[in-house]
Amino acid sequence: MGSLCPTTLSSSFHPKTLNLNNSPQNPSPRQFNLRPLTTIVCSSQYETERGFKFEIGDTFFRHKSATGRDLGVLAAALYKNSNDKLRVLDAMCGCGIRSLRYLAESKADFVLANDANEECNGVIVSNLSIVSSEDEGRWKVSHSIANRVLAERYVERDFFDFIDVDSFGSDSSFFRCAFDTVKIGGLLYVTSTDGFSSGGHRPNHSLAAYGAYIRPVPYSNEIGLRMLIGGAMREASVLGYHISPLFSYYSYHGPVFRVLLRLNRGKPPHGIHYRFIGYCESCGHSQAISWDKLGQMKCPCGSDVPDSLIVSGPLWTGPLHCASYLTEMLTLAGEWGWLGDGMKNDLDKLLHRMIDESDPNLPFGYIQLDEIASRAKVNSPRLMTITSAIQQEGYTVSRSHISNNAIKTNCPMSECIRIAKEIQNVRVI
Ligand SMILES: C[S@@+](CC[C@H](N)C(=O)[O-])C[C@H]1O[C@@H](n2cnc3c(N)ncnc32)[C@H](O)[C@@H]1O
Ligand SMILES: [Zn+2]
Repeated sequence: MGSLCPTTLSSSFHPKTLNLNNSPQNPSPRQFNLRPLTTIVCSSQYETERGFKFEIGDTFFRHKSATGRDLGVLAAALYKNSNDKLRVLDAMCGCGIRSLRYLAESKADFVLANDANEECNGVIVSNLSIVSSEDEGRWKVSHSIANRVLAERYVERDFFDFIDVDSFGSDSSFFRCAFDTVKIGGLLYVTSTDGFSSGGHRPNHSLAAYGAYIRPVPYSNEIGLRMLIGGAMREASVLGYHISPLFSYYSYHGPVFRVLLRLNRGKPPHGIHYRFIGYCESCGHSQAISWDKLGQMKCPCGSDVPDSLIVSGPLWTGPLHCASYLTEMLTLAGEWGWLGDGMKNDLDKLLHRMIDESDPNLPFGYIQLDEIASRAKVNSPRLMTITSAIQQEGYTVSRSHISNNAIKTNCPMSECIRIAKEIQNVRVI
């Protein structure tokens, strides 16, 4: 562990840049063998997660990604409960911890655990053997690039209920194959770890990866989620599908942006939440800009500061989560004893915060209290104080799961500034 190895570089596994398994560089017509390859002995290291002790060897493993795995396992279990059947494709499985948990906790009927790196084989096989022996046929291990294994399953019309792609950086090359291979009504759990793009520091890169020209705004970590959903939505629509985000999760470890999407047939029923966003540096106001208004973009403050309107997009401007779905996840987590003994633990807090921020009255983005304070030229207000003051004025407000010192609200920035000044004045009197 710790050495720079190809396991950390997704692009190293691009078929045109790396000759995998000493096979010809062009895709081979031979059937890919899904049986485990000869076990390669790795130096053994062990980790424990949710009571499972498993090997990590030299594979890429982050303990801090456990919450993302918890959320995936809960979602897969809900799917199994309501559909009675659950087949999972874990396309970049590393040591196989997700596959293990999908089998053991979500009660998956079958998991195909894939990782391009053959050297993970021994570790994956050993970890999945904790749940059942290979002969029982509940799991298989393969070592192929994700797109190849997805495309092969699609060609075989072997569709999956749940596909998890735990990729690095801003790899979006698998969207098309993943949408082909997931069942209609099935779930796709995708990742981006590209904080530079979401931060607006590589607009040409985000444009290439997600079709979105992203510029810096104070709520860039929410933009990262919206950029990912928007990119996926665009790819789904090429195939005649639309997607519904069931939850969106940002974690600063990485950073990691994870979204769970349900694939639906046809066009979205309520129009497309796929627009541009404008943030005015002069007054701090944010607005969604629809395609037919692109020629009329300006901030209502009428700022005459050149270039003060920062425009990004197109990206997803609809809800980040489905509140009823998150409530089901929360109930299940409670039944599994994951929510602690009355003391709110991290998962408990996270799910409650996500449910709160699913209020349909709330627009995209969040407002950092420090931004309000600096624009109002007052000390930063206490979160509870400004939240209740905003609510008393009839606006909707919630916390953000992304930032502890921020609020989501439909109260315009100019009003937030006024309210912060009033709070300060009351404090002074
Ligand atoms: C973030 S790690 C996976 C971690 C694992 N899912 C977990 O939760 O612990 C990404 C893995 O993807 C593999 N990988 C990278 N690019 C790939 C590709 N194009 N196709 C398949 N596997 C790939 C790497 O070998 C690495 O093990
Ligand atoms: Zn303005």
